[in-house]
Amino acid sequence: MRIAVHGASGFTGSLIVAELARRDLSPILVGRDETRLRAVAARTGIPDAEIRVAALDDTAALTAAFDDSDAVVNAAGPFTLWGEPVVRAAIAAHRHYIDTTGEPGYLHKILSTYDEPAKQAGVAVVPAVTDDGVPGDLIAALTAARLGAPLREVRVADLRRPGAASRGTARSMAAIAVLDQVEYRDRTWQSANESATTLIEPGEPEPVSVTPLALPGVYTIPRHLDTPIVRGVIRTEMGEIFAGLGGEVAETIPEVPDADALAASRWLILAEATAVDGSRARGWVTGFDPYAATAVIAVEAARRLALDGAAAGTLTPAQAFDATSFLDHLATTGVHWQVEELASV
Ligand SMILES: NC(=O)c1ccc[n+]([C@@H]2O[C@H](COP(=O)([O-])OP(=O)(O)OC[C@H]3O[C@@H](n4cnc5c(N)ncnc54)[C@H](OP(=O)(O)O)[C@@H]3O)[C@@H](O)[C@H]2O)c1
Repeated sequence: MRIAVHGASGFTGSLIVAELARRDLSPILVGRDETRLRAVAARTGIPDAEIRVAALDDTAALTAAFDDSDAVVNAAGPFTLWGEPVVRAAIAAHRHYIDTTGEPGYLHKILSTYDEPAKQAGVAVVPAVTDDGVPGDLIAALTAARLGAPLREVRVADLRRPGAASRGTARSMAAIAVLDQVEYRDRTWQSANESATTLIEPGEPEPVSVTPLALPGVYTIPRHLDTPIVRGVIRTEMGEIFAGLGGEVAETIPEVPDADALAASRWLILAEATAVDGSRARGWVTGFDPYAATAVIAVEAARRLALDGAAAGTLTPAQAFDATSFLDHLATTGVHWQVEELASV
């Protein structure tokens, strides 16, 4: 199986290349800089891997770079700046597409704008295939399925604590933090009307202060769950860090995070669902090293699309993949997931 990785020279892209090699899948390294792409192939122990140089403004070269692949993974961000030419080239080449974006405006735009072109090309376009986008969407689907009545509200929370992040993430977060935070309310996307609030983190005795952030789930969950409200929140201390992350600060962050700090980083994505009859359930997915997890998730998603296909069009992770089966695959790499019913309100 041949998976094209655009942005293979970056930190996340190189981890995806390494994960493809680990799983005996053949990466095609695509990007604008041949020297950097070759360095990644050599570092990953696959010096003979195929390299294809294509600039973003060279549509023909980009399309040709994807032409004989089984799927395209895009890890070149900020996606708001560089994402769309890659989506268009993947669709033109009739290849399934996934990416590692965490940028809400871009995610919403791709899901809304490229559905028809993807349908016409007969391919699936699945953005936000990351350590928060996939677990959040899948665990929300499984949590809601525990309730026997129509949904009143879904809340998705990214409860990671401050830890290691790449310069690429810092650049993207700096761009997001200045935006108006959005939630899904009255069945439409609009400015979040809650400020800081609290929630109970699994395994922790004290409530955690959380603040609104338009996590990927705010845009993906309403596309497959019939709910009038979807809110996204992160720890308030993380929100404060993002708010202080101007573009200049982001440039001072190392391209590759410290390996020990990464290994020690834990992420936890929680979904809480409340039904109109007051019944409640929550589910969570937790693991270590968010970038390694993103690589595992992106490779498994690309492999499933290449092998099993999916409905044509723009899809959320829960629309593209069987939630239980995908999370069970992640569990083989140290991820834990669980769903439980809560006392009614
Ligand atoms: N949970 C999440 O939301 C999550 C998790 C992981 C990653 N991500 C996202 O993934 C993206 C990549 O992160 P990273 O840490 O890997 O960043 P990075 O190390 O800075 O890599 C960026 C990649 O984009 C390419 N690129 C940048 N500008 C380009 C341009 N004008 N034309 C073509 N290619 C260009 C770079 O190519 P060169 O080498 O040629 O410069 C490089 O391959 C970020 O947006 C990050 O937020 C999100």
